[in-house]
Amino acid sequence: MRIDRQQTDRNVIEQKIRQMDITLPPPESEPERQYYFMKKLQGIVEERKRQLGRPLFANITTFGCQMNARDSEKILGIMQMIGYEETDSAEADFLLYNTCTVRENANLKVYGRLGQLKKQKEKNPDMVIALCGCMMQEPEVVEKIKKSYRNVDIIFGTHNIFKLAELLAMKFFDTGKQKKMIVDIWEGTTEIVEELPNERKYFFKSGVNIMFGCNNFCSYCIVPYVRGRERSREPEDILAEITCMVNDGVVEVMLLGQNVNSYGKNLEHPISFAKLLEQVEQIEGLERIRFMTSHPKDLSDELIEVMGKSTKICRQMHLPLQSGSSRLLKIMNRHYTKEDYLLLVEKIRKAVPDISLTTDIIVGFPGETEEDFEETVDVVKKVGFDSAFTFIYSKRTGTPAAAMDYQVPEEIVKKRFDRLLATVQEVSADRTKRAVGTVQDVLVEEVNGQDASLVTGRTSQNYVVHFAGSPSLIGSIVPVHLDESRGFYYMGTQAASREAE
Ligand code: SAH
Ligand code: SF4
Ligand code: F3S
Repeated sequence: MRIDRQQTDRNVIEQKIRQMDITLPPPESEPERQYYFMKKLQGIVEERKRQLGRPLFANITTFGCQMNARDSEKILGIMQMIGYEETDSAEADFLLYNTCTVRENANLKVYGRLGQLKKQKEKNPDMVIALCGCMMQEPEVVEKIKKSYRNVDIIFGTHNIFKLAELLAMKFFDTGKQKKMIVDIWEGTTEIVEELPNERKYFFKSGVNIMFGCNNFCSYCIVPYVRGRERSREPEDILAEITCMVNDGVVEVMLLGQNVNSYGKNLEHPISFAKLLEQVEQIEGLERIRFMTSHPKDLSDELIEVMGKSTKICRQMHLPLQSGSSRLLKIMNRHYTKEDYLLLVEKIRKAVPDISLTTDIIVGFPGETEEDFEETVDVVKKVGFDSAFTFIYSKRTGTPAAAMDYQVPEEIVKKRFDRLLATVQEVSADRTKRAVGTVQDVLVEEVNGQDASLVTGRTSQNYVVHFAGSPSLIGSIVPVHLDESRGFYYMGTQAASREAE
């Protein structure tokens, strides 16, 4: 492991920032350049706080997937390093939306929020409004914001989150009367900037990016256009980051990528995802490893074997199906058939019998016939998913599917969607019943929102369990007897140990 990458923790970064000389011009290399701007901003923020006689607050709203959730932790890390405090209130000094554009309604939500902000900004002209995330990678979105939402201060994209301090500094040093909207969107990048601050939402678990972007171009999906080509992080960087997190109290990591099964292929020294998992497993003190998402076309026998042997990899896999029709899967550019998928499930279940399988399914893809849809229902029943996210197909401009002729009428899609949902609920209720009466290790995550005498956690299979327990259990893994299943969750009782069963 390279010495300079052993530490990514906050203290080390803080120290490096302190050492920056801001009387010189900013350095060209990253992340030092950002450290330089962070130090400059620290001074400005201190001054503002003194003038106002109160802290400065940052409010970050995250839309979309785990990638965005992790990006928001990096954004918060930078904001805190600069001197802002996090707030839930939208009455903030810095307000940011980290956007998603995977389906049309994701975009609509953001426009709705931006409209509401107009008044707030009039009241507090010093407030900074920033937008980032996948939606900002679409040129027509940025055009619309420039035209209709002039109160936005900063727009950046998915490739340059690391530049936030620099962009904010540009904003603060803009002394012109007509404050300019700062727009910095990159089309792509091959660069991965390591060693930036980040602030985890949970002290005991964390997402860890292992790769960025996607090369698969499923014909309905906008992600490859807004997240760019696939780039893997060096295994040393990943291992160093996780080790550092574990030293800081993390017991569970979720390795993140749009298709983790193709991890490592583009590295100078290629390494498989299965091999990476084996290395992560070696990290002492780490108890649980999850990952998402797995594309069925790239799921290797090697990975199944590693999962079968592992004591830390959770008994859970998210394996998006999208459709059960081989005909549609071909048009979707998914590179597997219904039969391939079923065979894969069989192999996985053989190696890891108690695994919980979850999936994503799209209803109403262009040209979807009743027969195609029946194939999807058939796979759902045959596999018996533990749960499934079902989506109504959303036309995304620029994707091949958007140009496909036959878009299924709304009423038909709605009917199919309702039927699929009912089938999914039926099979998943059936699956959850099986674990009732067993004792499972539960990582306790929070005090129950409705009943403070209960705590809530997750099993290795990622099932939610509520049981009577003290908040001091948060962050630890305890054995819990599953007394009863209630659809998507269990009610349980803390058990002495697994053996006590
Ligand atoms: N990389 C992951 C998925 C990322 S997007 C994978 O390949 O599995 C999450 C889910 O959103 C997808 O699995 C898909 O089911 C859904 N999705 C993507 N584009 C969509 C669209 N245009 N309309 C409806 N659902 C879509
Ligand atoms: Fe989208 Fe397909 Fe890439 Fe997943 S694998 S992000 S569905 S293009
Ligand atoms: Fe959305 Fe971007 Fe994730 S489009 S689903 S936030 S990769």
